[in-house]
Amino acid sequence: MELVKPTLEMVPSYVAARERGFSFDINPDPGAVAALTEQIKADPQAFIKTVEDLHPVGRTVTLPDGSEVPRLPQYTRWMWDDEFAGVITFRFQRGTPELPAHVLGHIGYAVVEWKRRLGYAAQALRDILALPRAEGLPYVEVTTNVDNLASQGVILKAGGEFVETYNRPASQGGAPINKYVIHLQ
Ligand SMILES: CC(C)(COP(=O)(O)OP(=O)(O)OC[C@H]1O[C@@H](n2cnc3c(N)ncnc32)[C@H](O)[C@@H]1OP(=O)(O)O)[C@@H](O)C(=O)NCCC(=O)NCCS
Repeated sequence: MELVKPTLEMVPSYVAARERGFSFDINPDPGAVAALTEQIKADPQAFIKTVEDLHPVGRTVTLPDGSEVPRLPQYTRWMWDDEFAGVITFRFQRGTPELPAHVLGHIGYAVVEWKRRLGYAAQALRDILALPRAEGLPYVEVTTNVDNLASQGVILKAGGEFVETYNRPASQGGAPINKYVIHLQ
């Protein structure tokens, strides 16, 4: 498995994974996921332009409670083993490791169900650290739900250190999450 920057040629494999049930969309509603799949199929060129957003000036993200917040710069890499295997993203604010309260960690990831327990997520998390290093960040924060044992295993395997358990902001449902830090220097 390697991390790749998504290209137009890779989109059909990504669409096939979505049609097998994979999604890491901000809006997990099945109707919204299916609609986005159709949108990607209809205009893969438009999709590939939005998949990574390093200068999101003026663009916003809709949180689970419907509130709109500024979008942070975000790198997106796909896990690829001859086909789409998963996604990992890294979002950040330039010049600081700090994150706004509504952003729960620098890095998010998901592996297609049929390729789990192969070490892909842990390798992807280790490999993507090259990006925050290149951006000059001294550390990254990664959070996960307290009941997501798989994700906790991934973070620990990639060198994460447990910091604390705290409650998500109300705008994100308020459930408790674990915060980890990965030092880069
Ligand atoms: C979490 C997720 C990305 C893990 O992907 P993965 O490629 O299967 O993980 P890895 O194979 O790299 O696992 C690394 C370690 O995590 C732990 N782990 C992974 N899956 C686990 C599971 N189902 N139960 C318990 N521990 C698990 C193990 O310690 C594992 O190391 P080991 O295989 O040497 O024992 C995947 O389950 C997923 O996509 N889940 C849904 C999305 C999600 O929860 N994303 C995280 C949001 S922060």
